[in-house]
Amino acid sequence: MTIAIIGAGNVGGALGNNWAQKGHDIVFGVRDPKAEKTQALLKTIGGNVKAATAAEATASADVIVLSTPWPATEAAIRSMGNLRGKVVLDATNPLTRGPEGIALEIGHAISGGEKVQGWAAGASVFKTLNTTGFGNMANPVFKGVKSVMFVAGDDAAAKPKVMALVGDLGFEVIDAGPLRSARLLEAHAMLWIDLALVRGQGRDFAFGILRR
Ligand SMILES: NC(=O)c1ccc[n+]([C@@H]2O[C@H](COP(=O)([O-])OP(=O)(O)OC[C@H]3O[C@@H](n4cnc5c(N)ncnc54)[C@H](OP(=O)(O)O)[C@@H]3O)[C@@H](O)[C@H]2O)c1
Repeated sequence: MTIAIIGAGNVGGALGNNWAQKGHDIVFGVRDPKAEKTQALLKTIGGNVKAATAAEATASADVIVLSTPWPATEAAIRSMGNLRGKVVLDATNPLTRGPEGIALEIGHAISGGEKVQGWAAGASVFKTLNTTGFGNMANPVFKGVKSVMFVAGDDAAAKPKVMALVGDLGFEVIDAGPLRSARLLEAHAMLWIDLALVRGQGRDFAFGILRR
């Protein structure tokens, strides 16, 4: 599958590398495809990996992944052109810096995922790949146990493909329901961030599902 990853930073780089090792073709959509750091990333990953503008990357892709900083996300979506009929995985979190440090900018009554759906007219948006750190996206397996990744989205026909793609990374994948569940997943992401960056857990932990 050809996956366009918009934003080639911590998250985009980790996802691109992991999916490329699983045989997917990756095209990063970036503002400057020739930038030294982007070229260095392509070299590190190897395989069938390219960089292009966001519009070029999305035109030929089966699936698009958004991994841009929240304040840049609307502009990044606009720069992709017509997204009608495209499947978009939204890995962003609507973060801001509040009086008590890093926090969600919105929540409860609306989510970043639903805002992304509003900006990406006609696309099928799924909230996923936002609830754990980029290091865990590179390697989601802990001592042989898969950490969990949720997928929330309204397009029932496209959801199995999205869940399979997230599963290819090595996660246990759970259907979290409609896109409005992004409100829960973004709060869940905030819990991971708070535990990792404020409460001393560090980045090398993840949530999992236990069953009897
Ligand atoms: N870091 C994590 O562990 C983590 C985990 C889960 C979710 N997230 C979420 O994932 C998103 C990305 O986080 P990150 O840590 O990967 O950030 P990052 O390392 O700062 O990378 C962001 C990337 O987005 C690019 N970008 C900015 N504006 C763009 C535009 N208009 N078009 C295309 N690309 C653009 C940047 O490229 P330039 O070099 O051109 O600026 C950069 O490559 C955020 O929304 C974050 O909340 C992060």
